[in-house]
Amino acid sequence: MAKIISIVNQKGGVGKTTTAINLAAYLADLGQRVLVVDMDPQGNATSGLGLAHRSIEQGMYEVLVFEAKKIPEVIKIINANLHVAPSTPSLAGATVDLVSHPAREYVLHKNLQEVAPFYDYILIDNPPSLGLLTINGLVACQHVLIPVQCEYYALEGLGQLLHTISLIKDSLNPDIQILGAVMTMFDGRNKLSEAVFQELYQYFPNKIFRSVIPRNVRLAEAPSHGISIKEYDTASRGGQAYKQLAQEIIQAYA
Ligand SMILES: Nc1ncnc2c1ncn2[C@@H]1O[C@H](COP(=O)(O)OP(=O)(O)OP(=O)(O)O)[C@@H](O)[C@H]1O
Ligand SMILES: [Mg+2]
Repeated sequence: MAKIISIVNQKGGVGKTTTAINLAAYLADLGQRVLVVDMDPQGNATSGLGLAHRSIEQGMYEVLVFEAKKIPEVIKIINANLHVAPSTPSLAGATVDLVSHPAREYVLHKNLQEVAPFYDYILIDNPPSLGLLTINGLVACQHVLIPVQCEYYALEGLGQLLHTISLIKDSLNPDIQILGAVMTMFDGRNKLSEAVFQELYQYFPNKIFRSVIPRNVRLAEAPSHGISIKEYDTASRGGQAYKQLAQEIIQAYA
């Protein structure tokens, strides 16, 4: 059964999608069968993996809202080991459309249980909010991976995120655990990054990944070509950091 990891932070632009895409690419390269589930109406993981939005007729919106569509019907193949369940802009409407659904928090969970036997890892890329889409992402996972951007306001909102995770653990998903926090956009030249690390440690003692993702322009360029950093520039510092993170995660489950 796949290990299901939700990549969550309600703060925008902290590196959730960059982490989802590149971690998935290196896990796949290391021989793991990986599914990326794009739960963000922005569809950045979908396009970053090379799928043009207009080429996608059906995605997570149809899976969540019209349960006639099961997740295997919308999955696209990036390569032998890397698949994606894409998002389309209509996913933004899912929050409203799901309100009357009796088990609205469990729809993703139910779908992923069906495909979990076919993958080693399922990575869920969540939108920057703690709304119903992210709740589905948290209910469907066993583990939460929290990217934290190394900047002054990085830890703002982390308390609220941890509170939400503990509410979910108490009510909807008793199995949920924090896998760890990963520091992103680390810039060794400024003192702030060091300060963020110290503060983060208060929140996650022993749960900060050793792999630290540097600020690296190659990581920002890759999605505009629809490829991961592994294809775009694997030798870059960003590429090597995500490769290390993939190895660290495999070891964490070994
Ligand atoms: N380590 C990095 N170095 C340089 N640029 C980065 C890095 N990580 C992410 N970026 C860039 O920063 C921006 C935000 O990253 P990303 O889209 O991964 O964040 P996000 O948390 O998924 O955002 P959102 O909350 O909008 O979904 C993007 O333009 C991305 O290319
Ligand atoms: Mg994103």
